Amino acid sequence: MKNTVITFRQAKEKGEKLTMLTAYDYSTAKLMDESGINSILVGDSLGNVILGYEDTISVTMEDMIHHGAAVSRGAENALVIIDMPFMSYQTSVYDALVNAGRLMKEGRADAVKLEGGTEVCPQIKAIVDAGIPVCAHIGLTPQSINAFGGFKVQGKNEAAAKKLLEDAKAVEQAGAFAVVVEGVPKKVATIITEQLSIPTIGIGAGNGCDGQVLVYQDMLGMFSDFTPKFVKRYADIGDIMKLAFETYIEEVKSGVFPSEQHEYAVDDSVIEKLY
Ligand code: KIV
Repeated sequence: MKNTVITFRQAKEKGEKLTMLTAYDYSTAKLMDESGINSILVGDSLGNVILGYEDTISVTMEDMIHHGAAVSRGAENALVIIDMPFMSYQTSVYDALVNAGRLMKEGRADAVKLEGGTEVCPQIKAIVDAGIPVCAHIGLTPQSINAFGGFKVQGKNEAAAKKLLEDAKAVEQAGAFAVVVEGVPKKVATIITEQLSIPTIGIGAGNGCDGQVLVYQDMLGMFSDFTPKFVKRYADIGDIMKLAFETYIEEVKSGVFPSEQHEYAVDDSVIEKLY
């Protein structure tokens, strides 16, 4: 069954947890989809884990469309959300609408995600009014890393926690169907979750949220540049990949690979004619 914004609403009503992972390509999306994930986020974290940037600032609309379309082709049942990259919506409501439209038309997204609270509500409202579902994203929003002065947990003092709650209510009011809450103390994220009627999807926000999202390279041990405290490693695929690469190198060098089972045969009469 295809997951939709209705699935998200019903999950919140029934108190059922929602699952989300990031993906950036067709074959990974297909594996996740077959595993029964509710939603796949084509995050602008692709700047870090796919393109090797230090942050998400340089990610372009073209990057998001290219990877988003690949994921959409692999996801039959998961709700595909594509991130709006830095400066594709902050500049104006018009830009936000045009770029959200491109992610839908060219990236084949089911929904878009953008970062920010009250300040991006006009953009959220305009996109939702155009019939495009929006997932909001508050807390430690990586596109604002320079304003935060680094990857810092948000909402730790009274004013910051109150601002987060205000942002959460504002994005709900603007029409977002869900909100990602990132890098926020568990107790603050839990209060936000209790006070909203749309689902909260936590990342580094504790288990009081309505759902969880992780970057898949983090949870599979495939990305070692940095690992935030909130990441749980479900497999060490990076080690398995390295071992396979090393074995391949060894076997090619020693002539073990390819062996007969990987070769194509030809009639000897053809070969004789070649001498
Ligand atoms: O870009 C991303 O992967 C994200 C998640 C970390 C929520 O926004």
